[in-house]
Amino acid sequence: MCGIVGYIGAGKTTEVLLDSLGRLEYRGYDSAGIALVCEDGLEVIKSAERIVKLREKVPSTLYASVGIGHTRWATHGKPSKTNAHPHQDCSGRIAVVHNGIIENYQEIKRALEKRGHVFTSETDTEVISHLVEENYVDNTLRAILATVPKLQGSFAFALINKDDPGHIYAARKDSPLVIGLGEGQYFLASDVTAFLKYTKRAVFMEDGDIAILSKDGVTFTDFHGREIKRKERVIEWDLEAAEKAGYDHFMLKEIHEQPKSLKDVISGRLNELSGEVELGEIGLTQDEINGIRRVIIVACGTSYHAGLVGKYALEMLTDIPVTVEIGSEFRYSSSRVGPGTLIVALSQSGETADTAASVREAIKKGAHVVAITNTVGSTIARDAGNTIYMRSGPEIGVAATKTFTSQVTVMYMMAIFLGRRRGMITAEKARILLSELKSLPKYAQSVLDQDSNVANVARLYAKANLFLFVGRHLNYPIALEGALKLKEISYIFSEGFAAGELKHGPLALLTTGVPVVAIATRSPTYEKMTSNIKEIKARDASVIAVASESDESIAQLVDVVIRVPDASELISPVLSSIVLQLFAYHVAVCAGCPVDKPRNLAKSVTVE
Ligand code: AGP
Repeated sequence: MCGIVGYIGAGKTTEVLLDSLGRLEYRGYDSAGIALVCEDGLEVIKSAERIVKLREKVPSTLYASVGIGHTRWATHGKPSKTNAHPHQDCSGRIAVVHNGIIENYQEIKRALEKRGHVFTSETDTEVISHLVEENYVDNTLRAILATVPKLQGSFAFALINKDDPGHIYAARKDSPLVIGLGEGQYFLASDVTAFLKYTKRAVFMEDGDIAILSKDGVTFTDFHGREIKRKERVIEWDLEAAEKAGYDHFMLKEIHEQPKSLKDVISGRLNELSGEVELGEIGLTQDEINGIRRVIIVACGTSYHAGLVGKYALEMLTDIPVTVEIGSEFRYSSSRVGPGTLIVALSQSGETADTAASVREAIKKGAHVVAITNTVGSTIARDAGNTIYMRSGPEIGVAATKTFTSQVTVMYMMAIFLGRRRGMITAEKARILLSELKSLPKYAQSVLDQDSNVANVARLYAKANLFLFVGRHLNYPIALEGALKLKEISYIFSEGFAAGELKHGPLALLTTGVPVVAIATRSPTYEKMTSNIKEIKARDASVIAVASESDESIAQLVDVVIRVPDASELISPVLSSIVLQLFAYHVAVCAGCPVDKPRNLAKSVTVE
C-alpha cells in the first residue's frame, strides 16, 4: 500500500528519504518517487521500478534540506512513472505525495481543467497540487486550509513548495501519518518503521490535523487553522526488531517469533488464581456486559479467519450469539447493529479500509466497538476507542503469521472474560483454560522445533498445482487460513473446506495424487474427520494429516503425518496453524517465490 515519507533537517535528505522508503517496501508498491527543495527549485525524481532503481537515478551531488517521498500502489491510473508520486501543479512550484482516495477528484479535475489547469497524470492525487496552486497567494498553510474542505474521501498527504523552502506540510483524514522528532531534524511517514533508525520519538497525527514541519520543530493546526497540541510518544520497537535477524525471510522469522509473541499477548492478562482474564480494554461495565445481545466480529483476510475461530470459542464459553462478517460486506449491510451489539474489529494493521469503515458505521449506529490490533495509534484503534493490542511486534512479511495466532489468543481471552462475567463458566473451568493458554508458547516452540520435518513434507508436494485443506469445528477456519497462506505466497491454487462439505462438491476435484491437508488432531470431531479422510483416500488423493502426537492409528490412514503436541481443543488449532504456516513457507521457497512480497498483494490494504 502507498507509503509516505518526509524529511527536514541538516542530514543527507536524499539518503534519509530513500532509506525510509526502503523501510516501507514491505507495504507493497509498484512505483516510487521523491521531491526535493533544492537551490534551483524543486527536483522531482520518479521510477516505475523498485527503490534500488530510483536510487540509481538520484545524483549523488544533489543537496537539499527538505524533501518528501512516496511508494505507490496503484488505485487510479496504471502503475507508471507518470502516475508515480510526487505530483506537481502547473507552475512546478508545488509537489504532493498522497495516500488514500479522493472520491470527488473527477469533478474537481473537470472544474480545474475548465479554469486552465493542465494535468499530467491519471491520478486522483494531482488535484491536490492544482487546488493548492490555485489557492496559493503567499501562504502555503492558508492554501492548504482552503483546499482540504474540497476533498472528499480519505487522504494523508505531504506537500512542499519551492517558494516556501523551509517547511513540509502534511494533512490527515482517514489515512495514517506519523511525525518523527529528532534533534534538529524531523521526519514524516505513513508508519514509524520508516524513521525508527533515526528516532523513536513520534507524534501520531489525528484525523483533521495539519502538521507544519520546519527545522525548528513541528506545529499542528486543525482544518480551520486553529493551533492544536499533539502528544509525543516513545516507540518501543527498535529497528533490529524489524529486520530479519538471520532468517532467510521475514515470514520465517515471524513464524519463529511465535513463542515470544504468544507470551507477550497473554502477559499480565491472565489471573490463574482467581480464574479471571484482565481485559479492561474492552471498556464495558458489568451491566453492559449483561446487556450484550449479540457479537459481530468484523475483519478481512487472515483476520477474518481468526474471527471465525473466535466465534467458535465465544459460542463454546458464553451464551452470546456470534456472527463473523467480512469488512467489505459488513460496511454496506450493518442495519442490524445497535445498542446491545458488541462489534469486535480484528485487524493486525489497524488500517484496513473496509474494517475501518465498518467500525465507523457501527459506532454511528450505537454499537460498542472493541478493536483487536497490533498497531498502536492506528486508525481502527483510535476510532474504536476500546482497543486490545496484540503486542506481536512488527510483522513485515505480507503474509500474516504471528499476528494470526495472537488474534486467536485474544479472541480466546475475550471468550473466557465474557464467559466468566456472564456466569457461563466457573472459576475452576476458567483456571484450566488459563493454564492451557499459558502453555501455548511452550507448545508453539515444540511445533517450531520440527521445522525441518515440515520442510521435508513441503518438498514432497511442492510441485502440485492444487491443494485442498480440510478441518472441522475450530479446525475449519484453520483449514481456510492454511489454504490462504499457501495460495498467497506460492501462487498454487488452494482452497479450504469444512470437511463435512467435501461430498457436496469439492470431492469432484479429487483425482490420483491431489494433495489434501487434513487437520485431524484429537477433538470431539476427530472420528468424523477420520471418516472424511477415508472418503478422500477412496478417490486416490494424497492426505497430509496434521495429527496429535499420541495418535498412533492415523498413520495407517494417510500418506504423511505432521505431528503437533497433544493439547486441548482450543490450543491445538493454534498449533496446527503454525504447522500450516511453515508448510506454506517451505512450498513457496521450493517454488522460488518472493515469500515476503507476493505479487499483487500489499501488507496494509488502506483502500476499499
Ligand atoms: C494475510 O496473510 C493477508 N496479508 C491479508 O489477508 C490480511 O490478513 C488482510 O488484508 C487483513 O489485514 P489486517 O489484519 O491488517 O486488517
